[in-house]
Amino acid sequence: MKHLIPEFDVMRRRYPAEATSSMVLPCLHRIQQERGHVADSDIAELTAYLGVPRIQIEEVLSHYTQFRRAAIGRWHLQACRNLSCSMRGAEGVIEHLSAKLGIAPGQTTGDGRFTLSTVECLGSCGTAPVVMVNEAYHESMTPARLDALIEGLSRSGATP
Ligand code: FES
Repeated sequence: MKHLIPEFDVMRRRYPAEATSSMVLPCLHRIQQERGHVADSDIAELTAYLGVPRIQIEEVLSHYTQFRRAAIGRWHLQACRNLSCSMRGAEGVIEHLSAKLGIAPGQTTGDGRFTLSTVECLGSCGTAPVVMVNEAYHESMTPARLDALIEGLSRSGATP
């Protein structure tokens, strides 16, 4: 995280001195953008840099599901399991993805290509069930569409 300090210093000028804790969220976003996840060492360094209690950073990390504490696969599949998606078959979507990839939610495939997660509402209830792959939404998912999605990602040639 140390190489981001100059960037954080610039950001800090936009915050009143008494609002330093408001920088926790944008700093964590930036760290994850760089590393792909927020490591323990990042938390320690951010705690020291901002001068906020570690628990304040831990609370933000545990509240927002988009933050990751460990490295993930090249493709991060996030299957919504909230109400609208549940009513439209989210459980089957998650089971289908688990079976297809051979992993349970929270796990990464052995080749490091796919990580499967379950998440709360992705804000696209009208097109449930929804699966997010990295930053892209895939909506109204069916078993056939899931198969096509995984096959397309597998053929992409991108390596972790
Ligand atoms: S419940 Fe799944 S997108 Fe809202």
